[in-house]
Amino acid sequence: MPRCFSWAAHRLPSLPCVPCAGDAPSSPCSPCSHAAQTSMSLRHRGDGSGSGSGSVAGRTARKFTLEQLSAATDGFAASNLLGQGGFGRVYRCHLRLEDDDEEDGAATAVAVKQLCRGGAQGSHEFVVECAMLMTLRHPNLVGLVGYCAQAQERLLVYEFLPRGSLDDHLFLPLPLPLPAPAPGDGDLISRSRPRPPLEWNTRVGIAHGASRALRYLHEAVSPPVIYRDLKPSNILLADDFTPKLSDLGLARIGPAGDDTHVSTRVMGTFGYCAPDYALTGRLTVKSDVYSFGVVLLELITGRRAFDPDAGDPDERRLLDWARPYLADVRKMYGRLADPALRGRFPRRALYQLAVVASLCLHDRPNLRPTMSDVTRAIDHVASQPWQPASASAGAGAAHHRAKSCQM
Ligand SMILES: Nc1ncnc2c1ncn2[C@@H]1O[C@H](COP(=O)(O)OP(=O)(O)O)[C@@H](O)[C@H]1O
Ligand SMILES: [Mg+2]
Repeated sequence: MPRCFSWAAHRLPSLPCVPCAGDAPSSPCSPCSHAAQTSMSLRHRGDGSGSGSGSVAGRTARKFTLEQLSAATDGFAASNLLGQGGFGRVYRCHLRLEDDDEEDGAATAVAVKQLCRGGAQGSHEFVVECAMLMTLRHPNLVGLVGYCAQAQERLLVYEFLPRGSLDDHLFLPLPLPLPAPAPGDGDLISRSRPRPPLEWNTRVGIAHGASRALRYLHEAVSPPVIYRDLKPSNILLADDFTPKLSDLGLARIGPAGDDTHVSTRVMGTFGYCAPDYALTGRLTVKSDVYSFGVVLLELITGRRAFDPDAGDPDERRLLDWARPYLADVRKMYGRLADPALRGRFPRRALYQLAVVASLCLHDRPNLRPTMSDVTRAIDHVASQPWQPASASAGAGAAHHRAKSCQM
């Protein structure tokens, strides 16, 4: 999926560079210094949605040399390539970290992203991502293991998520060109084989985890953090399909005090960007809510937000295709279901999830729900899992009930 927008030069314009222990005096914008600044400007809310009031604790990340990362990835060999996005290539490798058990000899599996050389702007993206990931902590955000900033090279080292991205599972039945798995790689093996379609309960779990991460960014830290790039390829999946949002390079600290929005150059990925933000450059947390609605619709339908290869031009944009069904969701929700689900989903829950998606996609940002509302609604959907054993007996009745159910 191509990015339709270019680099934004000043996404954290108010953060001055400060020297940081361990960074060379010549490194003017070190991730450490920005993490320190970011953690000072962000606070956990004391309203029960976060972990108490006070500054968000900034953490340090390991600093690697280019030689270390090059050696670990066999010189950034194609055989270690996990994928390539708009900002760089991602390689899989193992690194020996200080907390690894020396005796069993196991090193830690990591994903190394080598950012394209984008000059000052690329460097800015790198610093923002490091600062955000060193500052924010949530089980549904990817962990930053470390970074490398040497000469023109900018690399980020993340925890390795063995199941890859949601994009790989929702849309790609084809095997990925992965290296032969090493002993102990566990479920990585399944990434190199054609994957079965995601089950309904797994889809709901992924939606739930992603909504919790956004709720954290919007409501547990103050000022809110606007993620800006929600899409399936940025939702990484752990062994048990726990979703983790990655790529915080476009994240932006949101409005503070009485301000309702921040004005910014439009950034994001085509198909996921809220129309109000795309038209005006006014960014609010509701821009993320819109993107979440698109991803929810992708999870329900198994269709991409934008598919340039769709034969029928009316089916290229998911929202164009889905509009008639969402307009009369009570009657038409069944048409939205991904055929790959083979009818194996609770109908009432599908209806409810379609209603949540439709609310998130409201043209007027003020009328979109908050991520707390969304998380609560998905909690409710998750409380009605698909249970194959009782399915045939209950399906007819559930279908009947769905006709009259309310959100
Ligand atoms: N931490 C990670 N663990 C495992 N795979 C990853 C990780 N980060 C990225 N990937 C893989 O690399 C691909 C490219 O990632 P990225 O450069 O962020 O581009 P994009 O998000 O546009 O796909 C992802 O789609 C995913 O399959
Ligand atoms: Mg990504």
